[in-house]
Amino acid sequence: MADVRLVHVTKVFRSGKRAVVAVDDLTLDIKDKEFFVLLGPSGCGKTTTLRLIAGLEVPTKGEIYIGGELVNDIPPKDRDVAMVFQSYALYPHMKVFDNIAFPLKLRKMPKREIERRVKEVAKMLHIEHLLDRKPAELSGGERQRVALARAIVRRPKVFLMDEPLSNLDAKLRVMARAYLKRLQRELEVTTIYVTHDQVEAMTMADRIAVMNIGRLQQVGTPNELYNKPANLFVAGFIGSPPMNFVEGVLREIEGKLFFDAKYFKIPLPSDIEEILRGQAPSEEVILGVRPEDMRISLEKVPEGIRGRIYVLEPLGTRTIVNVELGPELIVKVEGPREVDLRIGQEIWLTLDYNRIHFFDKKTEKAIL
Ligand SMILES: Nc1ncnc2c1ncn2[C@@H]1O[C@H](COP(=O)(O)OP(=O)(O)OP(=O)(O)O)[C@@H](O)[C@H]1O
Ligand SMILES: [Mg+2]
Repeated sequence: MADVRLVHVTKVFRSGKRAVVAVDDLTLDIKDKEFFVLLGPSGCGKTTTLRLIAGLEVPTKGEIYIGGELVNDIPPKDRDVAMVFQSYALYPHMKVFDNIAFPLKLRKMPKREIERRVKEVAKMLHIEHLLDRKPAELSGGERQRVALARAIVRRPKVFLMDEPLSNLDAKLRVMARAYLKRLQRELEVTTIYVTHDQVEAMTMADRIAVMNIGRLQQVGTPNELYNKPANLFVAGFIGSPPMNFVEGVLREIEGKLFFDAKYFKIPLPSDIEEILRGQAPSEEVILGVRPEDMRISLEKVPEGIRGRIYVLEPLGTRTIVNVELGPELIVKVEGPREVDLRIGQEIWLTLDYNRIHFFDKKTEKAIL
């Protein structure tokens, strides 16, 4: 039983005159038994956050609580957390058995109990037949399971996992994701999982915290982040292919509100008009539309946006159509299944107005 709480945690690394703010005023509330993912681009402070929770770094400011207890002054070995690193960090000279047994030996557990526990987790992770081998004699996927076994053998209060699947090939990674998610459900141990891969985050997490340059951008369930991104960064980071962005201005013409981009102008439905008026945004906005929230028509439609097919990207089950709306303005649209399209063809796009987003260009915050 352990929730994990970070309260206004900041970590500044100083070397000489330079100071890097790796984590900037981060407040997070991770629930007991939750599979919580920290997601963000390289250098955004994910590993540093995990190391702070593990006690491998000391916060510059703020408090960290595990299971309600303030752990700022508790050394790593007494925090009862287990960390799985990206590199697995197995001991190369030790057999698999001894690698898994290591944390138990450190705690001076009786030999028979160690043997029982190692065998139990080895069975759970399907690595019983590997116990006599050394890490060099294992595949990447097997090594990853050994590293997991070593983390779970002790049944810690919290698992901290730093991109544990990143060394696996694409196919194995997809399998390992589901496996790890299931394992976490069975063990019911609070897990904080770091990745820069938004698909991994979306598929595995109960909740995701998106970070950028040390700062928290948004916390929510995968669906909340996908459907209601709080800002331009989250909107562009989650989803593949990403959300399309088009800059423009909101313009009132004869009492009606229009979104006026350089190459097209569309009237906005009255409910959207009302929300945008209420929010009183600056005039300059960014329209955000996901590829699946636009429709392609071969015939001219009222309020359709005229474009030309730039290129087609078939993905097997669906095709991503790149549509040129003007010079240097190309949007990606999920294509219709039943229609054959060709490069250069003239088409009309319509938007699903229930699913479009607007962002304030200055603050980059969502206004719709
Ligand atoms: N020991 C350190 N000394 C100085 N700067 C550091 C140290 N550790 C990390 N940093 C800096 O802090 C920032 C955050 O690093 P961190 O390793 O937490 O990023 P990350 O999100 O894990 O990135 P990645 O996805 O590449 O692993 C980076 O700018 C990094 O250069
Ligand atoms: Mg990292």
